[in-house]
Amino acid sequence: MYPRMMAGSLYSIGWQIITDPDLVSLVRRAYTQGVVMDTWMHGEWQAEITPGAQSQLRERARGLASQVSAHQITWPVYPLTSRYLSHLFQAVLTSMALFTVHTQSHAKQVAEGDVEHAFATLRQFADQEPWGLSAVVRTFHVIWSFEDLNALRYFGRLSRNEFLSGVSHRPWVMELLADQLSLYMRMGLVKESLTGKGEMLRLMPRGRHVLEELEKILEESGELAWRANQQRWDIFRTMDYDTVFHTVIPDSDEATRDFLDLLPLKPGMQVLEVGAGTGRVCVDTGLWERVLPEGQVIAVEPSTTMATNLQEKSHRLHIPNLQVVQARAEDLPLNDSQFDLTLAVAVLHFTDVEEAVREMARVTKPGGWVAAVVPPSNMDIREIPMVALWLRPLSELADEFGLPFGDRNGLPPGQLEEAFHKALLQDVRVWPAPGTVTAEDHRAFFTFFVRGAAFFQHTLARLPYRERVHLLQHLEKRGEQIADQTQSGEKRHIFYGEAIWGRVPLT
Ligand SMILES: C[S@@+](CC[C@H](N)C(=O)[O-])C[C@H]1O[C@@H](n2cnc3c(N)ncnc32)[C@H](O)[C@@H]1O
Repeated sequence: MYPRMMAGSLYSIGWQIITDPDLVSLVRRAYTQGVVMDTWMHGEWQAEITPGAQSQLRERARGLASQVSAHQITWPVYPLTSRYLSHLFQAVLTSMALFTVHTQSHAKQVAEGDVEHAFATLRQFADQEPWGLSAVVRTFHVIWSFEDLNALRYFGRLSRNEFLSGVSHRPWVMELLADQLSLYMRMGLVKESLTGKGEMLRLMPRGRHVLEELEKILEESGELAWRANQQRWDIFRTMDYDTVFHTVIPDSDEATRDFLDLLPLKPGMQVLEVGAGTGRVCVDTGLWERVLPEGQVIAVEPSTTMATNLQEKSHRLHIPNLQVVQARAEDLPLNDSQFDLTLAVAVLHFTDVEEAVREMARVTKPGGWVAAVVPPSNMDIREIPMVALWLRPLSELADEFGLPFGDRNGLPPGQLEEAFHKALLQDVRVWPAPGTVTAEDHRAFFTFFVRGAAFFQHTLARLPYRERVHLLQHLEKRGEQIADQTQSGEKRHIFYGEAIWGRVPLT
């Protein structure tokens, strides 16, 4: 039993807490340090948790809960019972273990070692936080409350049973939901009322207000963008990238060869390719051959799966002068002034472009070249008539959320050139890079543009997870029907991307 408190005072204490300006950086620190609480990420991936791992999760969670109550540093909305805290830590550890296994291994189940890894990560995070373990409790209440209230906003109404089962928005560790619902109701965020369909839960104006505040925290901390990115990594991990890319952008290799022809590549050069993917540029279109006999290519790629595929391709084809390094463009683990030429094709729109270009310039020798190709700014795939019709539901959803139809379609006009100037590159030149995009193979198009290239992930990231899964299934089917009724001319479009180069000053 929680002490009786007036809903008004509970609400004002809660409001004071969620408007604490430190929450934004706390949430950022949490997800960047591997304290992943995103229930939403795992919905589709119901990995088995071994019995040993399950009891380890319970034991570790109980231990953490007892430490929180022992120090009397609970989330101060109301005293949290140790049972509640145990469930909370179990939810967090489960989420973290699932996430690591899913993203960093090919294992099919969560084992005890994964739980220990999650526990160590969580402890390390809490040890550095002034609020200690209570920082985890705070972060939890931002992220999971967002999921709960967002589901109610999205669906309009939910029956108590549906809400408590968590099927639409919180796939596991449901034990907490009853307690949280009681809290939301006591705070006046959610109300249960009789409708034609029985007792239904709905969001009250206060609930909307709190939800908007939570959304703002997730937005400002970068958590929503992080979610969107995770979806991209997820599909990049599983799709046959080479086949899909070549299918939807059929002239991509030819366009890349034309781009390479314009670069001052010479035998003996040291070349860096950033965001090399599975090696379309450095291997397939022959960048490696252009610097033989003495030259070397280093290929940097952050995705484990893509880097592994590239490594395997390089071995299989006996490429003698290619080295793969797993890293991000914004943080290159390479010495200054090492390369004669550094390039990135179809990558910089995924990065923090200023940081990435600064890094590319840093590792390039004085007098050396930095070059890139990016998709068009403001690229809108609805210019393909079939796609405009096909993706209308997604388009409407983006409107409803007040979001642009696509994100990461390209960089805003002029931003890449500005980044080159800011990195003090000289002789900067920009020219158009045309390319054909086709939805003739609608499955490949859907995999690449909707699921993978992440043009819609910001919209999808705001859906309760079950709804996201359903929407994607619906769109896939809709694509099939529309493809049958569309002529091939209505499935293609030529886009003009941007190619750029600049030179590192000699002094
Ligand atoms: C569209 S693919 C292009 C791959 C390859 N350059 C090509 O043209 O086929 C985009 C690549 O950028 C990588 N990427 C995404 N974010 C990145 C970052 N922050 N730093 C470096 N590469 C990144 C992805 O993993 C992916 O391999």
